[in-house]
Amino acid sequence: MTILVTGGAGFIGANFVRDWLAETGEPAVVLDALTYAGNPENLAGLDGGGRHLFVHGDIGDMRLVADLLRARAIRAVLNFAAESHVDRSIHGPEDFLRTNVVGTFRLLEAVRAYWDGLPAADRAAFRFLHVSTDEVYGSLGAGGAPFTEGDRYEPNSPYAATKASSDHLVRAFHQTYGLPVLTTNCSNNYGPYQFPEKLIPLMIHRALTGRTLPVYGDGGNVRDWLYVGDHCAAIRMVLAEGRVGETYNIGGRGEKTNLEVVHAVCAILDSERPRPGGRPYHDRIAFVPDRPGHDRRYAVDASRVAREFGWAPRETFDTGIRRTVRWYLDNEAWVRNVTTGAYRDWTARQYGQ
Ligand code: NAD
Ligand code: TYD
Repeated sequence: MTILVTGGAGFIGANFVRDWLAETGEPAVVLDALTYAGNPENLAGLDGGGRHLFVHGDIGDMRLVADLLRARAIRAVLNFAAESHVDRSIHGPEDFLRTNVVGTFRLLEAVRAYWDGLPAADRAAFRFLHVSTDEVYGSLGAGGAPFTEGDRYEPNSPYAATKASSDHLVRAFHQTYGLPVLTTNCSNNYGPYQFPEKLIPLMIHRALTGRTLPVYGDGGNVRDWLYVGDHCAAIRMVLAEGRVGETYNIGGRGEKTNLEVVHAVCAILDSERPRPGGRPYHDRIAFVPDRPGHDRRYAVDASRVAREFGWAPRETFDTGIRRTVRWYLDNEAWVRNVTTGAYRDWTARQYGQ
């Protein structure tokens, strides 16, 4: 028995593989194209006595996927691979269409052909779990009820639109061909190995390198933050117990404004790594022009996963953010290695420095 994890060298995928190997006895094959966001170092130290194999390749390469599925007798595919950064999708949506839509489609086709040829018992046990986002539901007003699985899709960014498309394709492959799929829609993750283009690691990195802390608009946009390890645990439960064809929302009951998040990061840094001269880090917050189409609020109703599997987040925002800042302080070499030329080009373009 082996699982295939696409995008397993990225932030959540790598955390998932680490968690999976620690929690189960089952081998995992990682398929990752190693875009700017993928980093084999995220899987460092995981030789796991042959329980982990890394394959460099694209989810859109149907022949490679077909060969892998057959050669490794894969019993489940977990699709984490995606272009995942909203700001980059605003500057250049095409890569998002290529991977999130066409790539997911081609992956589904390769998986369907493999699944079709399995013996009946293996076909019944097989699962394709698609990892998606709460951003497909669009933006909530201040008093709006958190997103439930039945809510209408109203994606607002090119990123969200491509993830919504991929969710629809996954659903269609179940309805049309019977492929045993599961979809999870999760809120904003944070934790170790997150690429420092996303809010929390970006703020930590910029604070430690003496730069401004750019907050979009008025800083009042709200996200529901979930520690990545809690997301990984929920995915394991959905894979094991989820009902085929269903979708599951996962969220942290951790709604915060961006300004609250940045202040929390600054306060931890003030005590763990005080600035020379003793000024507080929040002095460096700079309000910058807003992101176009910026969703005001996301919040997720995760009561289905709580009710059906007994899942609950183990970390609160306070404990999770402390662990996260600590990890970045302890792993400055990792940050140095990922903030290469391509990263510097991106931040110069986005933040003008
Ligand atoms: P990430 O950008 O850190 O990692 C994505 C990984 O996919 C990278 O390793 C990259 O190399 C790989 N990849 C990209 N295109 C590929 C392709 N064509 N073929 C093979 N590999 C490819 O993203 P993440 O934050 O780890 O997100 C993982 C998944 O979870 C995504 O599908 C994302 O939409 C979803 N998600 C993310 C969050 C979040 O807060 N980060 C929340 C909910 C859902
Ligand atoms: P991000 O981490 O990009 O996740 P998402 O857009 O998928 O929610 O951004 C989280 C929030 O932080 C979002 O409201 C945009 C905001 N943000 C800033 O204010 N400044 C920044 O430099 C970045 C990257 C994000």
